[in-house]
Amino acid sequence: DWTTGNVIEEQIARIKAQIGDGRVICALSGGVDSAVAGALVQRAVGDQLTCVFVDHGLLRAGEAEQVEQDFVAATGVKLVVVDAVQRFADALDGVSDPEQKRKIIGREFIRVFEQAARDVVAQVAAEDPGAGHEVKFLVQGTLYPDVVESGGGTGAATIKSHHNVGGLPDDLAFELVEPLRALFKDEVRAVGLQLGLPEAMVYRQPFPGPGLAIRIVGAVTPERLEILRAADAIARAELTAAGLDRDIWQCPVVLLADVRSVGVQGDGRTYGHPIVLRPVSSEDAMTADWTRLPYDVLQKISTRITNEVPEVNRVVLDVTSKPPGTIEWE
Ligand code: XMP
Repeated sequence: DWTTGNVIEEQIARIKAQIGDGRVICALSGGVDSAVAGALVQRAVGDQLTCVFVDHGLLRAGEAEQVEQDFVAATGVKLVVVDAVQRFADALDGVSDPEQKRKIIGREFIRVFEQAARDVVAQVAAEDPGAGHEVKFLVQGTLYPDVVESGGGTGAATIKSHHNVGGLPDDLAFELVEPLRALFKDEVRAVGLQLGLPEAMVYRQPFPGPGLAIRIVGAVTPERLEILRAADAIARAELTAAGLDRDIWQCPVVLLADVRSVGVQGDGRTYGHPIVLRPVSSEDAMTADWTRLPYDVLQKISTRITNEVPEVNRVVLDVTSKPPGTIEWE
């Protein structure tokens, strides 16, 4: 019978059988799936696992720390952090086109992860010369719906977006370890809780791989990322305080970086940027309705953002369903 405890025991046994005394690597994205998959593998084989977190500088406030501190504290995982913030900033410099942003981020992610994987392989070889403990395995947080979507074939790595590491060169060919293959999202969350992962991580709403880069309409700059991060943190804090996290599928917060409007703040006229709130209700993100948030919550978010983020002088609400609007603005 299905209990979270049984699932964990069963997966740990399978992982041990698959990996033996081999070494394994796992890319953490900050999302639920890779975190739970990594935590399960850690339970099974301990220090034979190395996790890699590529910090591309496009996560929201506190999310990198969540991985680097909270996740590590909760699991004891051996973590390598790659600071790629400047590299991604350079690669995205001057780029406004959404698909171009996605391509660049996907390409850079593969390159950075590839190098990190090579470093881990070399490190393991140096620690354990001749012991035959080479890094042969790669953890993927593939869920059951992903398996179904890709035709259900075994061992086929589905490459849906950049944080699924596809396209690695032949000499970095890993055998996949996919401990979540039989699970649905709510089951993954239950496993994550049972493994003691931080609740903020376990209940994180969907967040796109390209991160805040596709929530800045216009070119991505460090200053614009700062503005958006500040506004987003306020919106998230107020939605959480109002107890609305479980009612909302996700709420992209978008910076219209190339738009300015006139405002009056403090002592004088301002010429600032609008922030868009895009709260949506959905079952699977294929279709969505805009969420009827309480006016007092909207009011609080608007007041706080315009008071606390000086570059923003207007907060607007997106009242478009999907279709015709997508959930993200880019
Ligand atoms: P849209 O905007 O297409 O979004 O209605 C549907 C869901 O997918 C997420 N999304 C992405 N996730 N890489 C991702 O990993 C992407 O490029 C991407 N674009 C959109 C979006 O947040 C929503 O949950």
